[in-house]
Amino acid sequence: MRLTVTAKEGGSIKADALVLFISTKDLKKEAGKLLKSLGADEGALKDFKASAGELAMAYRAASGKSPLRLLLAGIGDGLKLEEFRKAAEAAACKAVDFKIGILALDCSGAAQWAKQLKCKSDELAAVLAGAAQYGAYRFDRLKSGKLDKKKDESKPKGISELVFAGCGTQLGAIENGANAGMIVGSCQNAARDLVNLPGNHLSAEDLADAAREAGKRGGFEVTVFDKKKITELKMGGLLAVNKGSEQPPTFTIMDYKPEGKAKKTIALVGKGVTFDSGGISLKPAQGMEEMKSDMAGAACVIEAVEAAARLALPVRVIGFVPSTDNMPSGSAQKPGDVITTMSGITVEVGNTDAEGRLILADALTYAKQEYNPDVMIDLATLTGACIVALGYPVAGLFSNDEALADRLFKSGQTSGEKVWQLPLWDEYAELIKSDVADVHNTGGRGAGSITAAKFLEKFIDGHKHWAHVDIAGPAFPTKGGSKVSGATGFGVRLLVELMQSWS
Ligand code: BES
Ligand code: MN
Ligand code: ZN
Repeated sequence: MRLTVTAKEGGSIKADALVLFISTKDLKKEAGKLLKSLGADEGALKDFKASAGELAMAYRAASGKSPLRLLLAGIGDGLKLEEFRKAAEAAACKAVDFKIGILALDCSGAAQWAKQLKCKSDELAAVLAGAAQYGAYRFDRLKSGKLDKKKDESKPKGISELVFAGCGTQLGAIENGANAGMIVGSCQNAARDLVNLPGNHLSAEDLADAAREAGKRGGFEVTVFDKKKITELKMGGLLAVNKGSEQPPTFTIMDYKPEGKAKKTIALVGKGVTFDSGGISLKPAQGMEEMKSDMAGAACVIEAVEAAARLALPVRVIGFVPSTDNMPSGSAQKPGDVITTMSGITVEVGNTDAEGRLILADALTYAKQEYNPDVMIDLATLTGACIVALGYPVAGLFSNDEALADRLFKSGQTSGEKVWQLPLWDEYAELIKSDVADVHNTGGRGAGSITAAKFLEKFIDGHKHWAHVDIAGPAFPTKGGSKVSGATGFGVRLLVELMQSWS
């Protein structure tokens, strides 16, 4: 999707549709006049309430003016960025359905909106551009088109160009913001592609290749450890989970160093289970296919590093991705096995389906030992219990540093990718005690996401600024979320917002 930013008025530029953002207040006063002045019938306003994300189409056919289509996008009271995000996302989504090639956004109100939102116009433009990218996303790379009878090759498949029109005095700010928003949106969509790819299209080695490609796009260093190196490093958790697999594990490190002195060094660790069958503790067949999304933490980390690099943020960001699938076979690890992780800590594997924490344990050990970062954050589709606690739209947050937790919470509120904190009290550590090893990998029925977080905490080696984000719900929501089903790329925007807060 190409980006154009212009001072030219939206009503007279070359585009297939012009988006008009309409608030409930505009609806009462300005909207009718605006449509009339653009040569469209006011009829489109009849059933339109301008709630955030609501759409209506008006046509200028009678006047012969172009752009022909006016896409009215509701922004509610227009006092929250979230409402603009919803509007731009819905408009772009509709534009793809309507096979609109050039989509223009009327930004003549930008200065006024920014004032109401108490933000800068570049922030607003970033949200609009990112949301447009997000809404235009389709996962169609596995469709051959062979069975499509009504295919019309003459129509564009996606939005080819996004135009910010009528920018006036805000042109420079909008240009900066929109450029940044396009980067974040494209990184988020790249993460969605990885998560949507099924197990037979994305192995641990493929995931490492995806990180290498992100490295080329962002200009940062990527190192991939193979099974031999992983064995030398004694990453016993990653190797144990990989035991049932026909394919080797990988451990990928992405290192983005800014020009000049970095304001902080941030380690990001992402769970990269390319398919989670549960292993010998096999999952039920119902819904098992959703476990292709069990590498969403990894996808998010890869794309957050890419975004940081392409935005040239003044922080060093190092991504760590331990990856394997979790399969049952004659060689798979067995319930009751005791393994030794890279840290030397022994783990009783009571349930082979609690595999994410085993591979994250080694990654946390490695990150702390080799880089001693200022901040360490892991993201993982770790527990079904987190969905029980918070549902699909919100991620679970755990941290031993209240200031970091607070910063993540605020980043969630601004980015729209919400997190809610759960406790790490010591009472919960009791639940993961083992009779035969240092720690047990499951904690029984209650507080499943907290005991998982307590398990991870054992492997941070006393690091004082660590947070764990359980994205099991929002990464791949099966209910609610956006209209386009499947992966959301949750976490990319959250992490970008967080990293920007240190810039
Ligand atoms: N990948 C799953 C968690 C999950 C479940 C993510 C549903 C997204 C949607 C994880 O590896 C897992 O299986 N966790 C177990 C842990 C249990 C065995 C202690 C779970 O949540 O049931
Ligand atoms: Mn599992
Ligand atoms: Zn899993």
